[in-house]
Amino acid sequence: MWVEGKVMQRIDWNNKLFSLRIDADIAPYTAGQFIKLSQIKDEKRVARAYSLVNGEGSDFLEVLAVEVEEGQLSPNLHQLEPGDSIQVSAKAAGFLVVDEVPAAKNLWLLATGTAVGPFVSMLQGQAIWDKFERIYLAYGARFEEDLAYRDQLDEFVQRAPKRFAWQPLITREDFEGNLRMRIPQALEQGVLQSQWDCPIVADDCQFMLCGNPDMIQETVEWLKSQGLQKNLRRKPGQITVEKYW
Ligand SMILES: Cc1cc2nc3c(=O)[nH]c(=O)nc-3n(C[C@H](O)[C@H](O)[C@H](O)COP(=O)(O)OP(=O)(O)OC[C@H]3O[C@@H](n4cnc5c(N)ncnc54)[C@H](O)[C@@H]3O)c2cc1C
Ligand SMILES: NC(=O)c1ccc[n+]([C@@H]2O[C@H](COP(=O)([O-])OP(=O)(O)OC[C@H]3O[C@@H](n4cnc5c(N)ncnc54)[C@H](OP(=O)(O)O)[C@@H]3O)[C@@H](O)[C@H]2O)c1
Repeated sequence: MWVEGKVMQRIDWNNKLFSLRIDADIAPYTAGQFIKLSQIKDEKRVARAYSLVNGEGSDFLEVLAVEVEEGQLSPNLHQLEPGDSIQVSAKAAGFLVVDEVPAAKNLWLLATGTAVGPFVSMLQGQAIWDKFERIYLAYGARFEEDLAYRDQLDEFVQRAPKRFAWQPLITREDFEGNLRMRIPQALEQGVLQSQWDCPIVADDCQFMLCGNPDMIQETVEWLKSQGLQKNLRRKPGQITVEKYW
């Protein structure tokens, strides 16, 4: 169930947001899935889910995490340094994967905070590019310094400028190129649709949402009001979600 992982490297995006690269021998996984990281604290196991950011078949695991004040595990993860040990689930899990999403012309990826991670993972693989003509990522965060993996996102744009675009939606400050609003409001007001010239039409669009549960709930309600439906195995739809809490 648990394997011993060793921290190889850490990236500090700001003083709370960080990535850990971990060496651990786990079963093959699919881009978009999550592992669990765990420690024993006061003789009790504390385990939490973290999406993989690396692509399939990498020889390391990478997670993007934020330190939650008074959280049980994330403050300890934030202390880890190269060489330290951390327990890792032997298998990844989760259904926020390209295989679960019906093919369509346009794929919308909506993330808040650390939930950009699984999308960075998917964008490194081939499956997402084979399945969708155009991919749009809306990335919501509080401050500009909370944007992780910007260089990698810009590289995807450079590689496929007609097929991929991403938009930061930073809510607590202004900067050039920012859209200062929350994701559901940007959709309700049609801002993203006109920016990307992509009307939301059930036949043409698939949505993957990840992160803050309130963002997901509000957005899903609005998408449903536009005629889209949750994507279920027994009844395919256009909305696939993963809530982080
Ligand atoms: C499927 C899945 C995948 C996840 N992937 C990631 C990931 O890739 N990176 C990551 O940092 N977390 C991720 N999480 C959340 C993670 O599992 C932990 O809940 C988080 O690290 C807090 O743990 P904790 O023990 O420190 O805090 P807890 O004591 O468990 O406190 C939980 C509270 O912290 C807040 N919170 C939890 N996660 C986040 C977050 N990511 N961003 C902002 N606030 C949060 C919420 O208010 C939540 O109620 C994921 C959760 C799920 C269910
Ligand atoms: N990010 C930091 O600078 C920071 C610093 C110290 C600690 N932390 C810890 O990290 C956690 C917060 O992490 P986070 O900032 O990554 O995540 P977050 O609180 O989920 O915020 C990420 C983005 O989601 C937006 N959002 C919140 N509710 C929404 C809703 N109902 N609909 C649409 N969008 C919504 C936020 O907008 P709003 O700005 O409008 O809320 C923000 O733009 C806290 O628990 C805290 O312990 C974070």
